[in-house]
Amino acid sequence: MIPLDESILRERCADCNHVGRLIHVVAEAASTNDLCHEAASNRENAGLAIFAERQTAGRGQQGRSWTAPAGSSLLFSILLNPPDAMALPHFLTAWSAVAVAEQLRADFGVDVRIKWPNDLLVNGRKLCGILVERRHGTVVGIGLNVSIRADEFPADVRLPATSLALETFGPIDRTELAARLLGRLDQLYGVALMSGPQAIWERWTPLAENLGDGPIVAVARRTEIVGRLLDLRPDVGARVLREDGSVARIPPEELVRIERPEKQ
Ligand code: BTN
Repeated sequence: MIPLDESILRERCADCNHVGRLIHVVAEAASTNDLCHEAASNRENAGLAIFAERQTAGRGQQGRSWTAPAGSSLLFSILLNPPDAMALPHFLTAWSAVAVAEQLRADFGVDVRIKWPNDLLVNGRKLCGILVERRHGTVVGIGLNVSIRADEFPADVRLPATSLALETFGPIDRTELAARLLGRLDQLYGVALMSGPQAIWERWTPLAENLGDGPIVAVARRTEIVGRLLDLRPDVGARVLREDGSVARIPPEELVRIERPEKQ
């Protein structure tokens, strides 16, 4: 594996205004999210991006761990100091998901979809996960499977997994990819600062998984609703047209996931 090149990354992101203003690449960290939280005591560090070739205690959503063979992924975190309108986790998750999905679609032609609320999938397999944490600082952590082989994924993953190499069959320059992702994250952050979170919601919906015509099951905290998805947005949740013609609204904090019903 070719290691990530910190100096190329810094050069490529020299014009970044919000994300990637400062860049560090480390060989090993417990979790890049932790390194960003530690850096949060200095406000000048907002915009810092930290990459690790390997994590010894990588974190996923809901207390799960996030593991990847050394050098096989892009494992990175971004420290931000967002204005209130952009500080909510559901905004930061949506912003980063849209940026990564758009860049991967543009560069590799892969049909990356956002699965509510924070997974990026290709053909129903998980390619990338996002973990937003607000503690000492506001930190967005991104784990993108780049060259992981099918036999290297842990057996107990919640969703079937994939990597960019498995989807595209070509060699991937991780430094180039990292630079492009930071560039897109930076650009989209600027768009949201100028135009408000609305600009992100509009780009999120067309990328959502399971938005097509077929029937879906909207799994909410206390109920499940079968019907057709009329609308899905991270800030307003889902609207589902039931078979009897009534419309159910599920607010984002209640919506757990959207599934296709099991085929009979
Ligand atoms: C998920 O469960 O889908 C979220 C996974 C987030 C993993 C990334 S890897 C870089 C950053 N550091 C961590 O410890 N977690 C995030």
